[in-house]
Amino acid sequence: MEALVALARNRVFTVLCGCMLLSSSAAAQEAVDVATGERLAELLRSARSVLSNYQSLINDPAVGDKHLDGERFTAEAIALYAKRTGHPLMSDGLAERDRKLLQAQVEAMREVVDEEQNDINRPGIGFKGFVPAVFARLMNEKFAAKVGNEALVRVTAPEVLVRNRKSLPDDWETRVINEIFSTPQKQKGEAHTEVTKVNGRPAFRMLLPEYYTESCLSCHGSPKGEIDVTGYPKEGGKAGDLGGAISIVLFK
Ligand code: HEC
Repeated sequence: MEALVALARNRVFTVLCGCMLLSSSAAAQEAVDVATGERLAELLRSARSVLSNYQSLINDPAVGDKHLDGERFTAEAIALYAKRTGHPLMSDGLAERDRKLLQAQVEAMREVVDEEQNDINRPGIGFKGFVPAVFARLMNEKFAAKVGNEALVRVTAPEVLVRNRKSLPDDWETRVINEIFSTPQKQKGEAHTEVTKVNGRPAFRMLLPEYYTESCLSCHGSPKGEIDVTGYPKEGGKAGDLGGAISIVLFK
């Protein structure tokens, strides 16, 4: 009897230890995934900022050739990423997966800017409609075409705000936006992460909230319903409101 109890205790002990080991390696893997997700989100943001800073050049009807090709654009996005994070994009010790995914993002943004050259350089035309959100969507689509088996990056938004149907949130994104980002316990700006399934495959998911700033409101602000320069009705947003979210999937 005593031996049996000891055996049982031993079993419980083994199982407990096993679980603890498993959970600590899961936590370590999660930390790695969070770091990868943050890198992908930051490179997307940096690229979007570069495009945003060039809006007045791109929309200048008096200038033909803007000398803003994919090569110059990617160099500036990579430099901005390094400035914002304090690390070069391809730092030593970066894991193989991160290198591959970041490189795919760089190629994606280069291709998008190169493919837009005719529009960017068209003389006599003011507003071109090549706004950061359009650029980001095209870049993310190219990224998916290259490495979509391993990772996905999208920009989505609360369903009521979505302009382009391609950016509609899926069920998981909708739940996180409605049930987690809106709770007072969730700190503003804090990302939500979860290990779950995407298209039937186990995946790490990360949703990073984005808020309107004053610069967004010429299109997404008031009066609600008024048509903005891009032809969409304004959403009536205010600075500080949740305007969207960067959504990252890393397949296991
Ligand atoms: C010049 C007008 C303009 C400005 C300024 C602007 N946006 Fe947008 N935004 C758009 C357009 C147009 C789309 C649809 C893009 C597409 O076709 O994918 C869009 C789409 C989005 C989306 C993707 C979801 C959707 O609705 O399709 C988010 C998120 C977003 N904008 C947030 C912002 C934020 C945050 C800012 C400020 C940092 C901002 N926008 C500034 C015009 C603008």
